[in-house]
Amino acid sequence: MRKILLIVGLFSLIAHVHGQTNFSIIGPGKEVNPFLYAVQKRGEFKQAAVSSAHPLASMVGAVVMKKGGNAFDAAIAAQLVLAVVYPNAGNIGGGGFLLGRKANGELIGIDYREAAPEKANRDMYLDNNGNAQLNLSQNGHLASGIPGTVAGLFATLVHAKLPFAQLIQPAIDIAEMGYVLTEKEAASLNGVKEAIAKSSTQSNVFVKSTKWKVGDTLVQKELASTLKRIQQEGQKGFYEGRTAELIVAEMQRGNGIVSLNDLKNYQAKMRTPLSFNYKGHQVISFAPPSSGGILLAQMLKMTERYPLNKYGFQTKKSVQLMIEAERRAYADRAAFMGDPDFFKVPVKTLMSDAYLTKRMSDYDSEKAGVSADIKAGVIKESEETTHLSIVDAQGNMVAVTTTLNNSYGCRTVVGGAGFLLNNEMDDFSVKPGVPNMYGAIGGEANAIQPGKRMLSSMTPTLVLKENKPFLVIGTPGGTTIPTSVYQAIVNIIDFNMSVGDAIDKPKFHHQWLPDEVMIENDFDADTKEQLQKMGYKLTARGSIGRTDGIILLPNKRRDAAADKRGDDSVAGF
Ligand code: GLY
Repeated sequence: MRKILLIVGLFSLIAHVHGQTNFSIIGPGKEVNPFLYAVQKRGEFKQAAVSSAHPLASMVGAVVMKKGGNAFDAAIAAQLVLAVVYPNAGNIGGGGFLLGRKANGELIGIDYREAAPEKANRDMYLDNNGNAQLNLSQNGHLASGIPGTVAGLFATLVHAKLPFAQLIQPAIDIAEMGYVLTEKEAASLNGVKEAIAKSSTQSNVFVKSTKWKVGDTLVQKELASTLKRIQQEGQKGFYEGRTAELIVAEMQRGNGIVSLNDLKNYQAKMRTPLSFNYKGHQVISFAPPSSGGILLAQMLKMTERYPLNKYGFQTKKSVQLMIEAERRAYADRAAFMGDPDFFKVPVKTLMSDAYLTKRMSDYDSEKAGVSADIKAGVIKESEETTHLSIVDAQGNMVAVTTTLNNSYGCRTVVGGAGFLLNNEMDDFSVKPGVPNMYGAIGGEANAIQPGKRMLSSMTPTLVLKENKPFLVIGTPGGTTIPTSVYQAIVNIIDFNMSVGDAIDKPKFHHQWLPDEVMIENDFDADTKEQLQKMGYKLTARGSIGRTDGIILLPNKRRDAAADKRGDDSVAGF
């Protein structure tokens, strides 16, 4: 009898595991072929759409929805694929924020931002003379906060429909069989090879003696094994057991401080999303520990009472007004914003009409503002993050922004586990009140404390029109994230642009300090000259952000757009 029971039990276990993992959509001849894929910048889809930093992630997200998953399932599967095919910023060693709105109107904010380890302290990056050692907060083991992404994926699972074992299978398959590199990816890996070799203690797949070329296949067996442990053991497959041991062993080899306890105790947190009105639309964005939602609200509301559409798109008048709103919003950032579990952030005041009207009371349309006249400070942040926007057939909307901070994080690959760790500790103010080597200033609000989450700029955003889903949007770009989302929303609402045009138009960025306007190379030359004549300092720079968005059209079709600036790509059906 006991023997029969054992055999029946074994059979049901095999059937269960098989049933859950039998989600074979990756490979030649299957729905998603990692050896043959193309970037698709635009798409109008009848039911569901994804826009993300990589074609394979968007395709997997769309197939997951086609096979019965919703936008939350797609968000989990697509993020896991990004962790394989977009090691610059896709991750399991970093963190992020997920903002969702269910078709029934329920709002969801999941904070899986990295946290400072228990051995961290506010002076940990200062030398004996009190000087900030930015090399340590930016490169190698000590730069890493406790990763949050895997906890975030499991917190998202509550809203999903398919088993996690299925949702992670495409990522495992791509890691195991490999995927072909695009030209941009090959160049990016060549650029970072040396830094990864320097910051890692064991050999890894990213570093090889010859140069990466377009069309090369990147196979990640160790990462596949890590993903399988998560598939089999759930969240514990990352935060406890073998993976946690590998992370801690890596820390010990490289003088890092993330401990087994830090990993075991890490939890994603639910945050109430911020919500405000802008010209007849309801805008929903992320609350602290991201500064993004507050900054977006401040900038939109500071310029709301001005007729931007009459001023014209990127004319001197409209750009100057928006620059002055950006300057004032960013001046508030370091003084007032940090992890709300450690610092009381005056969210309501910062977003209130009365405060923002007062903030613009010294605005002069004839004169360039001067940052020295405006108080508070700002923190320099890296720009390598990644965003995905998803809408499903039911009208659930999900916006996720996730990051390792720098491109490839702290450049340390966890030996035997095959993934990169973040360098998010650098998003704390390494030395409160004192400018760092980039001339940026941090405040007490964002000083390092064990367990605290570092201030972010990530701005996953949803917009409703007449209380119905209208727009899902977000971007990477460090401190340029809130200004990019701000300008894309203004382009759509005030200048009546399609989501694709709104995203691709040239961007400008002012963040209070340094007191200059950064502009993309294709920014209008006449407007540039007129602003310079007014006294603004304009500095040309490379691209700003990689915004991915979806608009729900009046005919209910999903108009998806991926930024022209990267390999970003849309998919849907
Ligand atoms: N590390 C970029 C951000 O969180 O804003």
